[in-house]
Amino acid sequence: MAGGTFNIEGGGKNYEGRITLFVIFTCVVAASGGLLFGYDIGISGGVTSMDPFLSKFFPSVEKKMKNSGDDGNMYCKFESQILTLFTSSLYIAALVASFFASVVTRKYGRKISMFFAGCVFLLGAILNGVANSIVLLILGRLSLGVGVGFANQAVPVYLAEMAPAKFRGALNIGFTIACTIGILVANLVNYGTSKIKSGQGWRVSLALAGVPALMMIIGSFFLPDTPNSLLARGHPKEAKKVLQKVRGTENVDEEFQDLIQASEAAKKVEHPWTNITQPRYRPQLVICCLIPLFQQLTGINVIMFYAPVLFKTLGMGDDASLISAVITGSVNVVSTVVSIVTVDRLGRRVLFLEGGVQMVVCQIAVAILVGMKFSVSGVGSLTKGEANFLVFLICMYVAGFAWSWGPLGWLVPSEICPLEIRSAGQAINVSINMLFTFVIGQAFLTMLCSMKFGLFFFFAGFVIIMTIFVFFFIPETKNVPIEEINTVWKAHWFWGKYIPDDAIIDGTHNKGKVDL
Ligand code: BGC
Repeated sequence: MAGGTFNIEGGGKNYEGRITLFVIFTCVVAASGGLLFGYDIGISGGVTSMDPFLSKFFPSVEKKMKNSGDDGNMYCKFESQILTLFTSSLYIAALVASFFASVVTRKYGRKISMFFAGCVFLLGAILNGVANSIVLLILGRLSLGVGVGFANQAVPVYLAEMAPAKFRGALNIGFTIACTIGILVANLVNYGTSKIKSGQGWRVSLALAGVPALMMIIGSFFLPDTPNSLLARGHPKEAKKVLQKVRGTENVDEEFQDLIQASEAAKKVEHPWTNITQPRYRPQLVICCLIPLFQQLTGINVIMFYAPVLFKTLGMGDDASLISAVITGSVNVVSTVVSIVTVDRLGRRVLFLEGGVQMVVCQIAVAILVGMKFSVSGVGSLTKGEANFLVFLICMYVAGFAWSWGPLGWLVPSEICPLEIRSAGQAINVSINMLFTFVIGQAFLTMLCSMKFGLFFFFAGFVIIMTIFVFFFIPETKNVPIEEINTVWKAHWFWGKYIPDDAIIDGTHNKGKVDL
C-alpha cells in the first residue's frame, strides 16, 4: 500500500467463520485508510496549479508563471521551496509520527491509533480548508501527515488481524487499490473545484480530505480492537469474545489456540531490530531498504504530486492540465487492478522486469520530446498533437509503474520476512518510503529547474539500475509460503551464502500469524 501493507499467512488453515458485519466494517476502515493516503498524494498538485491559491499564498510563483518564468524559462516557473514544502511536509510528519504510532499501536491497541489518526486528519483538513496564511497551511499538512503516519501503521495491522485468513491477501491489496482510487478522486475533485467561480475551490479540495477521516473516526469508534492485540495486552477472555463475534460463530477454539501460540511466539521475538542485522537476514535487510528507495526513485510521485503543475509547465491550459491528471489517475487505478489479477499467475519478477522496461522507454521518450521542444533554455511550446502524445507517454509510464513497483513495492517486503524480523522489516520499508517520498516531493521542482529535460533521463537511469537489480537479486516468491522463504534464499546464487543450513529447518517452525 501503499502505506504499509502486511501479508500475513493463515498457516494454510481453514478456520470456521463467515463474512460478518464486522468484516464488512473492516473493509470500510481499509478503504478509508487507503483513500485518505491517496487523496493527499493526489490533491496538492492540482491545488498548487490553481491561480487563486497561488495568488493568495505564493504571489511570486504566480507572477513567474504568468510571465512564462524568468527569461521565459518554462522549467523554473514553479520553483519555490515553500511551495514544495506544502506538498512534502506531510511525508516528513508521517515519517516521524510512524515511530510513535508503532509504539501506541502495540501498547494501547490498533483501535486507539486509528481513532487518533482520523481525528488529527480531520483537524488537518479543517486547518487547510480555512487557512489564511502559509503557516496554517503547512500546520494543516503536518497534522494530516501525523494522521497518515498513524493510519499507515495501524490500519494494515488491523486488517490483517481481523480478516478471515483466506481474505487477508485480498484486503492487503484492497488497501493499495483504495490508495490509487484516493489519488483519482483527488484529481476529479480538483477538476470540479477549479470551476468554482468564487476562486475558493482550493478550500473545498483541501477540506474534503475530512470525508475519509470521518469514515475512519466512525469506523474505529464502533469497531472492537483485534483479538491479537487484546491477547497481547493481557485480556484473553475479551479476545475470545471478539473473535467469536467477528467470525460469527462460537466455534473458534482452533483459531484461538493458534492465536495464543502466535502471541507467545511473538513475545519471544524481543529483538527484531538486532535480529534483522544478523548475516542470515542480509537479503531481507538489503531488500527492505532498497525496494522503497527504488520505488520512489522511479519518479512516480513527480506525476502523482505534480502532474497538473508539470502539464501546465509544458504549456497546457488549466483545464487540459487537470483533465490530463484525471487520465493518468485513471490509468493508475486500472493498471493496479491488472497487477492484482496477474501477480500470482505471472509472478513478481515478470511484472517488475516488464514494468521497468516500459517505464524506461517512456521516460527516455518524454526526455527527448521535451528536450526537442524546449531545449536547455526552457523556451518553446507543444502543439496539440505533441501534448496528447506526451500525455500518452506518461500514461504508459504510470501503467508500467502501477502493475510493477506500485503494489509490489509493498507486497514483496512484506512476504520475504519471516516472523522474527517482520515488524522490523516492515518499519524499515515504511520509513524509507516516507523519507524518499518527502525528498522527491521537496526536490522535484528545483531539480526540474536545474536539470531541465535531463531530469527524465535521471529517473530513467535509476529505473535501469533497479531493473538490473531485480533481475539479479530478487528471487521469485510467487506461491511460496512464508515459512519456506528461506529455501528460496538458500537456492539463490548470491544470497545463498548468507543462509546457514539450519535456517531452513528453523524457518519451518515459524507458522505464526502475528507479526507484532
Ligand atoms: C507509492 C506511492 C505512490 C502510489 C501511486 C504507491 O505504491 O508508495 O508513493 O504515490 O503508489 O499509486
